[in-house]
Amino acid sequence: MRKITANVYMTLDGRGAFPKYPEQDRPLTEPTALFRHMWFNRFDDVTTVVMGRRSFLGHQQTWSEKALKPGEPAWLLDYRRYLDRVDKVCLSHRLKSTDWENSRIMDGDLAGILTKLKREKGGNILIEGGPAVVRECLRRNLADDYWFFVMPVVYGKGPRYWGPMDGQATLNLIETKPGEDKEILLHYEAVR
Ligand SMILES: NC(=O)c1ccc[n+]([C@@H]2O[C@H](COP(=O)([O-])OP(=O)(O)OC[C@H]3O[C@@H](n4cnc5c(N)ncnc54)[C@H](OP(=O)(O)O)[C@@H]3O)[C@@H](O)[C@H]2O)c1
Repeated sequence: MRKITANVYMTLDGRGAFPKYPEQDRPLTEPTALFRHMWFNRFDDVTTVVMGRRSFLGHQQTWSEKALKPGEPAWLLDYRRYLDRVDKVCLSHRLKSTDWENSRIMDGDLAGILTKLKREKGGNILIEGGPAVVRECLRRNLADDYWFFVMPVVYGKGPRYWGPMDGQATLNLIETKPGEDKEILLHYEAVR
């Protein structure tokens, strides 16, 4: 059965934002260990990436190979190429078409969409934001596991991941991994 994982990029106060902090901004000649763990090591495993419309358009604009910036480190090209070739699902009621290759648009109830994707052939499924979609997964306990990438900042603004829940969600801690840049990865699976 295909596993559904949600990536949750959050500040310490549970906001979906990418604030600047000293370590975050240093130029990298190779991916950090956490980035490698979250992405490169999963390239073979994850064959579908799901995103809300805003994140999908943001990723296309920033991370497709067409958006390549001159002089950037070569390892980022591998990430761009992965995002171009992977099967991508953009969740949207209003978008009718997309020119990002290997992409399709789906709408409807999120639980129904995820059930449908699970039934398709393929590897694992990654929900790569945005916060609105991930918040719905957390509220309704829709993902099989969650990778919380926690940044060392209390930000006080940006979309919240935590809010009212449909019921208690119990999670089982699988691993913790500190990053070189003061972030921490918390990997939990849902208990069902
Ligand atoms: N990993 C990340 O991508 C990430 C992480 C942290 C912060 N952020 C930031 O968060 C912002 C975007 O996040 P967001 O939470 O506002 O937006 P989002 O989750 O990327 O997209 C929300 C949109 O997805 C569509 N959608 C969601 N569920 C749907 C469903 N079941 N069926 C059909 N369409 C559905 C709707 O689009 P329609 O209006 O088209 O129906 C909705 O307006 C960006 O500024 C980004 O930089 C992103």
